[in-house]
Amino acid sequence: GSKSMRGGRPQGDALRRFGDAKKRMGDIFVDLEGYVAELVDSFVQLSADYDFVETSQVQEAQHNRNSITVIQTMLKRDHMKVVFFGRTSNGKSTVINAMLHSRVLPAGMGHTTSCFLQVEASPDDETFIMTENTKDRISIEKLNALAHASDHDNKAKGSASMGEDSLVRIFWPKNDSKLLQNDVVLLDSPGVDVSPEFDSWIDKHCLDADVFVLVCNAEATLTQAEKSFFNRVSSKLSKPNIFILNNRWDASAAEPEEMEQVREQHMTQFRRFLVQDLQVCTGEEAKDRIFFVSAREVLNSRAKKIQQSPSTMLAEGHLLRAQDFHNFEQQFETCISKSAIRTKFEGHIRRGREIMLNLQKIVESVHADALREKETRSLLHRSKLSELRQSQSSFLQFETKSRENADRLRAEVHVKVSADFHD
Ligand code: GTP
Ligand code: MG
Repeated sequence: GSKSMRGGRPQGDALRRFGDAKKRMGDIFVDLEGYVAELVDSFVQLSADYDFVETSQVQEAQHNRNSITVIQTMLKRDHMKVVFFGRTSNGKSTVINAMLHSRVLPAGMGHTTSCFLQVEASPDDETFIMTENTKDRISIEKLNALAHASDHDNKAKGSASMGEDSLVRIFWPKNDSKLLQNDVVLLDSPGVDVSPEFDSWIDKHCLDADVFVLVCNAEATLTQAEKSFFNRVSSKLSKPNIFILNNRWDASAAEPEEMEQVREQHMTQFRRFLVQDLQVCTGEEAKDRIFFVSAREVLNSRAKKIQQSPSTMLAEGHLLRAQDFHNFEQQFETCISKSAIRTKFEGHIRRGREIMLNLQKIVESVHADALREKETRSLLHRSKLSELRQSQSSFLQFETKSRENADRLRAEVHVKVSADFHD
């Protein structure tokens, strides 16, 4: 197909940029780890033979080496995260399914999703789920029961700790999904009208989110619950990336005369919401943040395994809606990879630099101590020499003296003996 170019790169590559950056960072930290390991080894040896490497310095170098290992582990786990919010039945789960090209999440009329459902790449192409409480793999067949059960449990126990804000992770094979292949994690939520626990939702699930998608019902206006939720989000996070999907736009096909007018209304309302109320983007940027789509149509055309019934005949204007969904996905991909690279990797780079500066300080101080030691040794050496020289001269003096003494002695003896002889 024809890929649009931006900044000289095909836009389809946007997602891969995160993986590329991650790989490059990984390589750098492997190198760093190698250097630091070498340094620690030589410190350990030096400290055994000399006084100028202190145990505390060896420990600190070792500590810095451990920090590098911690960053490496974090880096491996880093991903891009998108969370979906909106009123019950607006189509949040259907949007996620459409983006994944398959019916991963349960969707349907009425209140369907009753806790947080996170879709992520399976480590081994097996499909399974996991709850927060256990590390056991649970069969995907239990998903429907589980997503509802936690709600019932909650009501039965009357506790607020388990329930809407609990998390079920769905591990899905990544071969069919570009998003899952590129470390994107998608989080579905219960309707914002279901629970007023916004703060705990945000604290628990949203602080590491790169992108928020507000799924609206194009047939209605924005509700107070949706507004309050995103007000909380933008007050807790600095400048969150928010996309707005006017979903169920297929309904507009039934009223073609009013369609343009309704579209303008929504556009004005949402632009004001993003630019003035939330202050998360400019008016110019807002046009790349608001879309008019039909998730159900997109899902039906993408998840081909399900036989289409005649009742899902495509309504007037479906191509435009499909195109707008595609536009949304492109903007979304560029936005999420940019944001994730900045927020996730900049921290590691900063820590890496701190560690190197730390190590540099230790090396410099050891070097200075070693030089000082060399200096004192050569001073010591010099003073030993002069001592030696001194003792040498005193030895000579002693020798002369003793020779003189001996001579005198001999002379005296001679005198004495000759005197005796003459006596
Ligand atoms: P909860 O999980 O209950 O909060 O709802 P949700 O927001 O996840 O909605 P869901 O995806 O379950 O969709 C609700 C119903 O709306 C389902 O029957 C969908 O098939 C239908 N639906 C979703 N998107 C569209 C759309 O674009 N057009 C139309 N006509 N129906 C849609
Ligand atoms: Mg749902």
